Amino acid sequence: MLSIIKSITLHGLEGFIIDVQVDVAGGIPCCDIVGLPDVSIRESKERVRTAIKNSGYEFPSRRIIINLAPATIKKEGSAFDLPIAVAILMASGCIKMFNYEKTIFLGELSLDGNINSIKGILPMCIEAKKLGIEKIIVPKDNAKEASIVSEIQVIPVVSLNQVISYLNGQTPISPVQFNFQHINENNFNYNLDFSEVKGQKNIKRAIEVAASGGHNCMLIGSPGSGKTMMARRIPTILPNLSFDESLEVTKIHSIAGNISSDNPFIINRPFRSPHHTISKTSLVGGGKIPKPGEISLAHYGVLFLDELPEFDKSTLEVLRGPLEDGKITISRLNAVLTYPCKFMLVASMNPCPCGYYGSDKECNCSSQAIKKYIGKISGPLLDRVDIQVEVSNVKYENLNSSDEEENSEKIRKRVEEARKIQLERYQKIGIFSNSELTPKLIEKYCKLDSKCEKILEKAFEKLGLSARAYGRILKVARTIADMEKSENIQASHLLEAIQYRSLDKKYIG
Ligand SMILES: Nc1ncnc2c1ncn2[C@@H]1O[C@H](COP(=O)(O)OP(=O)(O)OP(=O)(O)O)[C@@H](O)[C@H]1O
Ligand SMILES: [Mg+2]
Ligand SMILES: [Zn+2]
Repeated sequence: MLSIIKSITLHGLEGFIIDVQVDVAGGIPCCDIVGLPDVSIRESKERVRTAIKNSGYEFPSRRIIINLAPATIKKEGSAFDLPIAVAILMASGCIKMFNYEKTIFLGELSLDGNINSIKGILPMCIEAKKLGIEKIIVPKDNAKEASIVSEIQVIPVVSLNQVISYLNGQTPISPVQFNFQHINENNFNYNLDFSEVKGQKNIKRAIEVAASGGHNCMLIGSPGSGKTMMARRIPTILPNLSFDESLEVTKIHSIAGNISSDNPFIINRPFRSPHHTISKTSLVGGGKIPKPGEISLAHYGVLFLDELPEFDKSTLEVLRGPLEDGKITISRLNAVLTYPCKFMLVASMNPCPCGYYGSDKECNCSSQAIKKYIGKISGPLLDRVDIQVEVSNVKYENLNSSDEEENSEKIRKRVEEARKIQLERYQKIGIFSNSELTPKLIEKYCKLDSKCEKILEKAFEKLGLSARAYGRILKVARTIADMEKSENIQASHLLEAIQYRSLDKKYIG
């Protein structure tokens, strides 16, 4: 007897329906899986055999051929356990023969017949719906996540026995429905807030400018000056994620297996802070069983590279393309995958090897040692950082003060206003913020009057700014003008933007 059960597999975020075809026939007992399965799926055979036996059914001792079609698509992971078991039980007569044209099955079997959760449920369901699927049988622990996709019926299952009796019409199972009201009520639940950062007015202002224009930024300061503390709070002042953005973020984290079964919908902007020893693969994604890297996990949020000079230069080089394109393409033997990665880059560094250059404590680094230290940062990466600010230690009187600091929500409201102006201005050209302006667009949107031109010329002469600073200053000045709802860039905007080139001024220029 031949039976066919549908399932789905992902390449990147793209889904492909897979037919699990099982033929049980007379002949020498054997069980073969064909159709480009990887090792993890070949192991599935043993799990399925044991799970069926331990669920009280007989594993047919006949000739069993399992074909995963189409054979051209590489399949991996353990999600095919359940569809394979169901197809075998159907072909051997334990489950009523039925044509499940619009239903897919997903789940990993444990040896006792229980069904374990799998990774990537949300993108699988989204793709399944696109491909015309109406019902999906999933592990109970994945059900809430699956139910985020509306108009698809989600049937939660815990064991193979339950699936058998459900398909035979003996035990009904109610579909799981997602409570979107719940999300709206909980919109915004960062546990951090900018009001916890005392003083540091200038740095907070620089960070607000960065958030307002989507600019990458670098915080330079001595140990303990609060760089990490402030960076962690940047997501709290970025505009709230839209529903579609949340969905995209959740999809990526689903593939990485980072979704909690109780609270599967990610509504906070991500903050990722990989250690400086991170490998290229973990940073940008890939690997034997491909996974999104830190840059994709930071999608629509903040990627924080703490202690930037400690990172391997060649590791940082791989960020160039993704920073430019907002996506990363990973080539593999049988496939090419793409993951999105639009993030705000925030980096931190000490001003010198000992960390205390320019602070109250004594620094005993030679100017050569300092140059070498700064030189460790990749130039192309630095080219993509619009704002560089020096963070000095918070003053005691600020730390001690009982003055109330502005909270994140208030700052975020202003950021949202500035972003709205940019969205409107750029809606026809397909960019979202000033940070994305190309040299040509800078010419068009960041025009200076003659007074401002003179200021900029002087600044270049006096501070010895590098050519790479030019476009960056104009973009940041545009953002500051937008924050003040000013149509044109004015002298004060330009002067502030020039201040955000600490590295050029001090060390390189
Ligand atoms: N402006 C501030 N207001 C309140 N607390 C602060 C402030 N600045 C620093 N702190 C306190 O100092 C601690 C150390 O700050 P943080 O770890 O952010 O410094 P850092 O600049 O990242 O240092 P390092 O170079 O060692 O990583 C914070 O956890 C916080 O408790
Ligand atoms: Mg730190
Ligand atoms: Zn030093």
